[in-house]
Amino acid sequence: MHFSSCSLIVICLASVSAAAPATTAASPTATDVADVDAAQATAKTESPTSHVKGKAFDRYVSIWFENTDYDMAAADPNFAFFAKKGITLENLFAITHPSEPNYMAVAGGDNFGLDGDIFTQVPENISTVVDLLEDKRISWAMYEEDMPYTGYQGFSWVNQNNGANDYPERLTKIKNTTMFFEDPKANKLPQWMFITPNMTSDGHDTSVTVAGEWLKGFLTPLLDDPRFMQNTLVIITFDESETYTIQIVFYDHYSEISTVEANWGLHTLGR
Ligand SMILES: *[C@@H]1O[C@H](CO)[C@@H](O)[C@H](O)[C@H]1NC(C)=O
Ligand SMILES: *[C@@H]1O[C@H](CO)[C@@H](O)[C@H](O)[C@H]1NC(C)=O
Ligand SMILES: *[C@@H]1O[C@H](CO)[C@@H](O)[C@H](O)[C@H]1NC(C)=O
Repeated sequence: MHFSSCSLIVICLASVSAAAPATTAASPTATDVADVDAAQATAKTESPTSHVKGKAFDRYVSIWFENTDYDMAAADPNFAFFAKKGITLENLFAITHPSEPNYMAVAGGDNFGLDGDIFTQVPENISTVVDLLEDKRISWAMYEEDMPYTGYQGFSWVNQNNGANDYPERLTKIKNTTMFFEDPKANKLPQWMFITPNMTSDGHDTSVTVAGEWLKGFLTPLLDDPRFMQNTLVIITFDESETYTIQIVFYDHYSEISTVEANWGLHTLGR
């Protein structure tokens, strides 16, 4: 890795990636929309901050796109633009196919045997990178484009789960990208963030060209924004390649957890 004084950008083009969740979602019913509207009105959002010095960076931002082979990403002018600003990890691979176990892996350090995209809730007593961060009082948040409200736990807009929340306090930090644009205004960005564009913007339902254009529009202004660039490491990657037969060698999604552990001296998940 190489560093500049105020920022470090690492572009990782993963070579393995995914299918959309099995599209079991029907169109939203009026009741579902009403429930979502009601929840939007009361959803609690929190934006804690912290200033824990890291060995190599003080802020960690991971942006995940979907289902694109390395060659396609490398050839896209917008991804190439950001690759020139940082370094490219040519040997970064996903854990498996399809998408969901890869998202499990980057947070949990394991895919827990999951091999599909079904609606799954990991039990509350399973530790993740968030436990390691909170242990060292490092602020974190997830920003999910078009998530209808903070803490939304449904599989989709339609199949939302109205039951009891498993992680009430943590849910206040799992918010939509609308909030990403609000938080810097109050200097409220956390030290660790995971950013998920929607299925249009991340290339899953579109193409690497659409993903690249979204990234250009999203990231370019941020790179000149001192509220975002505070010794910030930006990782740009894909959850998996489009071609399932590409072989796996090595960095992988577990390397994201290792990076954060090494930087802030966190404990390990032991997996
Ligand atoms: C989590 O809780 C379940 C149900 O009580 C239990 O079976 C399981 O062993 C627990 N796992 C861990 C890692 O503590
Ligand atoms: C984003 O989440 C906030 C907080 O729950 C909610 O008020 C807002 O309506 C959501 N925005 C969109 C575009 O869904
Ligand atoms: C995804 O977000 C983009 C803006 O980033 C928007 O143009 C697009 O319509 C959204 N896709 C869906 C399916 O809502």
